[in-house]
Amino acid sequence: MNILVTGGAGYIGSHTVVELLLAGHGVVVVDNLSNASEESLRRVLEIVRKDRPDVKEIPFYNVDLRDRAGLEKVFDRSGAFDCCIHFAGLKAVGESVLKPWEYYDNNINGTLTLLDVMRKHGCKSIIFSSSATVYGDPAVIPITEECPKGQCTNPYGWTKSMLEQIMSDLHTADVKNNDAHPWNVVLLRYFNPIGAHPSGRIGEDPNGIPNNLMPYITQVAVGKLKQLNVFGNDYDTPDGTGVRDYIHVVDLARGHVKALAAVEKNCGLAVYNLGTGRGYSVLEVVHAFEKANDLKVPYEIKPRRPGDIATCYSSPEKAKRELGWEAEYGIEEMCRDSWNWQKNNPNGYKE
Ligand code: NAD
Ligand code: WQD
Repeated sequence: MNILVTGGAGYIGSHTVVELLLAGHGVVVVDNLSNASEESLRRVLEIVRKDRPDVKEIPFYNVDLRDRAGLEKVFDRSGAFDCCIHFAGLKAVGESVLKPWEYYDNNINGTLTLLDVMRKHGCKSIIFSSSATVYGDPAVIPITEECPKGQCTNPYGWTKSMLEQIMSDLHTADVKNNDAHPWNVVLLRYFNPIGAHPSGRIGEDPNGIPNNLMPYITQVAVGKLKQLNVFGNDYDTPDGTGVRDYIHVVDLARGHVKALAAVEKNCGLAVYNLGTGRGYSVLEVVHAFEKANDLKVPYEIKPRRPGDIATCYSSPEKAKRELGWEAEYGIEEMCRDSWNWQKNNPNGYKE
């Protein structure tokens, strides 16, 4: 299939472009490089060409999704797209609380423009990067897709929740209007992506001090940060620290390839959790990282971080049943590959 990947130079997007090209799909990337570097795509090509020397280039457009004219040009020059995998968006939870307008403008307006240009060019299939954050504080664990969406605690989360609604409404309207080719919309709710490509060539390259657990741990391990602050050890969890469903980014990337197969069969509107179904506490992650890499990670217990919940992990059964997808990597590989990326690229793509 010919796929438009928005945000394809970013963390999850770059790993997905690898898997798409290896699976034989054609890929065009649009990214405004607000949180990425073109170097990631150069390295994606290098990884892919080891197995697929016939792949000569990855067409790339430095375009902001809100730039309608720029986006039109991408569609005009690329031939017909069969589907768009839509990663592009701002994603820093704390920043979204301080800059809500920027988050709503970028994520909502960017996506509305994309959807409009897509339908005008006859492409009505989209796979969207959603998040477990749309469940809010879930009443039942493990979280299934039937679990009602909850109250988000930040504007970032609301953009995901609202965009899910917008895309679902497009599909529903087509069905009501007896449209012969209704929108295919696949909403993928990611749990906590970590890890990096096993080659150590691409990975997560956060700006400034990381907010998320794994990049913080790797920066402590590499000596950039003094110690990990563990946010709370008085949660109602086995060791008192927060429990999350960490998923290897390569597994996540492969989930998108499986979702494409569903789109090809005109799946209509579909929602899937992409997680492992297994929760790990903060301290379990720290100890798994130390064991996998034979390192020490100094840490100190600090107060809870506002907005955090105690426990969040998925039921991945629906994706297994309907997409034939399940995570293959465990926490050991996630810790190994996160560290392999960090130690080989202490400054990310900036060298
Ligand atoms: P990322 O920041 O590495 O990738 C997003 C990419 O989108 C970046 O390369 C950025 O430059 C680009 N971008 C942002 N706004 C754009 C715009 N207006 N026009 C064009 N390009 C734009 O983030 P990621 O971790 O790879 O996340 C990808 C997607 O998955 C995001 O939508 C994110 O919200 C979602 N998600 C991420 C996580 C996570 O923990 N990483 C969890 C759940 C969902
Ligand atoms: C994991 C655990 C922290 C950092 C966030 C977003 C979510 C999604 C994924 C995009 C928690 C603890 C963390 C630290 C710590 N993103 N922690 N010290 O909060 O589950 O999810 O990223 O959609 O929307 O909210 O991930 O990695 O920040 O935290 O103790 O320095 O690690 O309290 O229990 P989170 P995280």
